[in-house]
Amino acid sequence: MTELIPEHVPAHLVFDFDVYTAPELRHDPYRTMVGLLQGRVPPIFYTPRNGGHWVVTGAVEALDMLRDVERFSSDPQYNSNARKPWTLPNQSDPPDHTEYRRMINPAFTPRAVAGMEGELSGMAARLIDELRPRGGCEFVADIGKKLPVNVFLRMAGAPESDREMLVELTERVVRHPERSVREAAGYEIGAYVLKAFEQRRHALAEGLLNMVLRGRIQGRALNEVELLGMGLLLFLGGLDTVSSTLAFVMLFLGRNPGHYRRLVEEPRTIEAAVEELIRTHSVASMQRGVRHDTEFRGIRFRRNDRLFFMTQLYGLDERQVEDPLRVDFDRPISPHLGFGAGPHRCIGSHLARTEVRIFLGEWTRRIPAFDIAVAGDIETCGGNVWSPLALPLRWSI
Ligand code: HEM
Repeated sequence: MTELIPEHVPAHLVFDFDVYTAPELRHDPYRTMVGLLQGRVPPIFYTPRNGGHWVVTGAVEALDMLRDVERFSSDPQYNSNARKPWTLPNQSDPPDHTEYRRMINPAFTPRAVAGMEGELSGMAARLIDELRPRGGCEFVADIGKKLPVNVFLRMAGAPESDREMLVELTERVVRHPERSVREAAGYEIGAYVLKAFEQRRHALAEGLLNMVLRGRIQGRALNEVELLGMGLLLFLGGLDTVSSTLAFVMLFLGRNPGHYRRLVEEPRTIEAAVEELIRTHSVASMQRGVRHDTEFRGIRFRRNDRLFFMTQLYGLDERQVEDPLRVDFDRPISPHLGFGAGPHRCIGSHLARTEVRIFLGEWTRRIPAFDIAVAGDIETCGGNVWSPLALPLRWSI
């Protein structure tokens, strides 16, 4: 492995860790990772795994780096492993990135999301009502993957009858073990999104897709590759992330009946609980590339060095949060970077929080107590989005 360590990386910053498959990520990853990091590895280290890259685990360091787009770029040309067959607008730097973002921003403002709350409640309520008489469910498949797809359909103005097909395609994109199958499903979703754009091209309708169609980048309309990228980003960006967050939240609440009871008895706590649970269960990582040779906090970086930000850990940084693993709905501030930082900070963060809050509101109203239906550990996966792989729940009927 040592041959994979570039000469500018000093030995004391090398730590052999696979961000996708490390055993520490397979069960209770937050607790295990905090234990691993305490004093054993520096907040920025270099791993020879996956072609060799830096890993940023410290919140303080990450915040400075994510804001510094001049040195740490989202453009895949500086980060070759991030290359995809389509162009995703989040893989660009300002000023292009600013134009992409401005295009879709109106759909994600607090006001726009507030306007969706009634429909979101209805969607969550219908899913829970279907399941309640069964006395149990596999949460990830039965709710986690379905709710965000419903939300996308609503935002895109697409019919609910497309749901089953999209849920199935999404399942393949997210979970299929073969890369070629995952990519083929990605193209199918892409084709669906492009068709949806085409159908709206001549309609004067409102809605997310029409915002994109009306949008301009450097004074011109988006070409097909850009439309595809934007459509996929909007569809996939809020899917696995919301699904995984919901699953970790339910895993925690299923194991901690005292915390759950409080949400049932004091529904006004739910809003603060969502923030605290996202702090302790952030799910998405981020990647950047180094634009030119530079030094940051005494570490030398070379152009095209890859950086992997373990955003999942930033809310658990002891330098920022006292007793970080303790879930406390009464914490005055619950600092985390679960939605990223800098110009790419998640545009869907308000929607995501609202989805989790509304879901918990509907669930607590209908299911006064539940627990995890299997003994022992729940298997989780690491990588770009941490997630429980399956989560069997049960309740009394
Ligand atoms: C709990 C759920 C979510 C989490 C944890 C999450 C996390 C993130 C993170 C960490 C980033 C920054 C990526 C980077 O800097 O490279 C991001 C960006 C983004 N997210 Fe989310 N997200 C969530 C939900 C959503 C939802 C619901 C949507 C929309 C439907 C969405 C759409 C986006 C988009 C479009 C970007 C790119 C923003 C940009 O590049 O300017 N996300 N998200």
